[in-house]
Amino acid sequence: AVQRTFSIIKPDATERNLTGAINAVFEKAGLRIIAQRRIRMTQEQAERFYGVHRERPFFGELVEFMTSGPVVVQVLEGENAVAAHREVMGATNPEEAADGTVRKLFAKSIGENSVHGSDSEENAAIEIAQFFSEAEIVG
Ligand code: CMP
Repeated sequence: AVQRTFSIIKPDATERNLTGAINAVFEKAGLRIIAQRRIRMTQEQAERFYGVHRERPFFGELVEFMTSGPVVVQVLEGENAVAAHREVMGATNPEEAADGTVRKLFAKSIGENSVHGSDSEENAAIEIAQFFSEAEIVG
């Protein structure tokens, strides 16, 4: 079925001018960018977005990184978009990511791993609503 998922191009990628290169990988995988905005995340936005990781040892580092520079928040649409996006992103740890994936191509480390993608359709809806109104999403 056609789904929507939420995507973030992270500060390590915007810093290296990789927004277009990453979008090209997404589009080649059949994902359509139906909403997109470049923002600087506030501490509050990052802490809320990553709330499920609050107790993890890397939480502070994660919030600091995600607020360290511009990010590009996106809504992607396509057939089985959640799984299709996760496949094309590759494993969280770039050392484990398959050839041709965004993280294999571009990620610097498990923390500075260039992209985020929703892990379920339910979380995608929650994450999309955190950054976009329906009027901003043009499918
Ligand atoms: P993301 O998909 O954005 O969701 C949670 C993020 O936590 C994950 O990508 C990683 O970038 C980050 N993360 C996971 N494990 C670690 C770790 N061991 N050290 C630092 N960051 C991590």
